[in-house]
Amino acid sequence: MRLRLYENITRLHLGFFNEQRRGDMLSRFTNDMAEVENTVVNSLKSVLKEPLTIVVYFAVLFAISAKLTLFTLVLLPVTGAVVAEIIKRLRARAQQSQEAMGRIVNLLDETFSGMRVIKAFNARSFLLGKMNDELKFHRKVNLSLSRKNELSSPLSEFLGVIIVAAIMYYGGKLVLGGNEMQPQVFMGYLAFYASMIQPAKNFSNGITSLQKGTVAARRIFEFMDTRPAITSPPDARRIKEFTTAIEFRNVSFSYNHRPVLKHINLKIEKGKTIALVGPSGGGKSTLADLIPRFYDPVEGEVLLDGLPLPQYHLDDLRSLMGIVTQEPILFNDTIYNNIAFGLPHVGEEEVQQAARIANAHDFIMQTEKGYQTLIGDRGLKLSGGQRQRLAIARAVLKNPPILILDEATSALDSESERQVQDALMRLMKNRTSVVIAHRLSTIQHADEIVVIQDGTIAERGRHPDLIQRNGLYRKLTEMQKT
Ligand SMILES: Nc1ncnc2c1ncn2[C@@H]1O[C@H](COP(=O)(O)OP(=O)(O)OP(=O)(O)O)[C@@H](O)[C@H]1O
Ligand SMILES: [Mg+2]
Repeated sequence: MRLRLYENITRLHLGFFNEQRRGDMLSRFTNDMAEVENTVVNSLKSVLKEPLTIVVYFAVLFAISAKLTLFTLVLLPVTGAVVAEIIKRLRARAQQSQEAMGRIVNLLDETFSGMRVIKAFNARSFLLGKMNDELKFHRKVNLSLSRKNELSSPLSEFLGVIIVAAIMYYGGKLVLGGNEMQPQVFMGYLAFYASMIQPAKNFSNGITSLQKGTVAARRIFEFMDTRPAITSPPDARRIKEFTTAIEFRNVSFSYNHRPVLKHINLKIEKGKTIALVGPSGGGKSTLADLIPRFYDPVEGEVLLDGLPLPQYHLDDLRSLMGIVTQEPILFNDTIYNNIAFGLPHVGEEEVQQAARIANAHDFIMQTEKGYQTLIGDRGLKLSGGQRQRLAIARAVLKNPPILILDEATSALDSESERQVQDALMRLMKNRTSVVIAHRLSTIQHADEIVVIQDGTIAERGRHPDLIQRNGLYRKLTEMQKT
């Protein structure tokens, strides 16, 4: 089950994890898992076994005195209602407590990963305050939860006592009043009744935790069944090669109804290099994200070789592409595994070759264990430029026909940038590439430069033409010269 859950996580929509707090999900899932396991192991047995015992006991009680037994049966719904109300309140609190824990886990996660920034900005006291508030709230909720929990047990004892007292009273009347029951029979009745209490308790506890387990299981299954927003159709086309062009046809896109791209028309022919430039926040990364279908357009279509992307098998589509992003995504694993990521059949020789091309081989050899060095959480033990070169090596090794480079050299100093740039130039030759760059000197030779501003194409053309036009592109290049 854990594996299936994980499998679904890897398939989910990118936006999903921004929308829902990670920590909240983490703590909820661990709790839910424990709940389900507890149910399966402990409660199921008593829920299956005890009813039989209880039925037998009731039959005996009925045989002894139908009147008295009916009387006790009338009392049960009343006490049941009281107990149900208590449980309902407990549950609401438990939910709050879980959410509070989720926020705490999230804050811890952020704190560990953002340690550097926190120290640099002297934000310790700010975060301490935030954590203090969360902890206080969590403590308050938990205190109230355990107070209610502790209270609920004496309360149900009390209810039990009342029931027994009522039986004594009514039974006593039957014995003393109308000679309807012999005293010794009444004693026997009480003994039977008392010995039925334990199985009944087991049963009701079993039911409660079974309910909790079902709720937890339902949440887990709901999540497992959350269909990723982006899927391939059942009769998806298989594709092994990219032959003619990628085309954006009147493409618009918004994040949560906020438009980011507006009516984009763009054709990227096979073998060409297209550069996307323009002010920050203009929508360049978003545009690039539409090509591997990280998102689907809200309006219009993206076509590959004349067919809309959704018609292709998603895995095939993505295996045509190599992506190096603004924030290289690395895993807490060895350098070797990070480069060979997702490619099962590669040899040591090929990995090293790719690292050489990406200008990463030398620094890798200088690390403690070379290719077997662990790079830490999110590549923490590497410099920004080193991380980026690993990401480039990964793309080189994959050797895809389409390359998407989103600020692939942004984290490099000018010397290594020149070296990596050379490597990328070699890599881009005979390939179709979409290159996003802030440093405009690196994309002067692109076949087409597309200037994106506020989600629209402001200008397009080759470098000399755009300079001559004396528009936004020229302004941007001149700003960078100084
Ligand atoms: N996951 C997201 N959810 C909501 N809004 C987003 C998301 N990603 C980006 N945006 C918004 O979309 C707009 C375009 O972002 P995008 O990352 O495409 O810009 P960009 O041109 O790549 O900028 P930069 O040059 O700084 O990388 C921005 O205003 C940004 O705030
Ligand atoms: Mg960007």
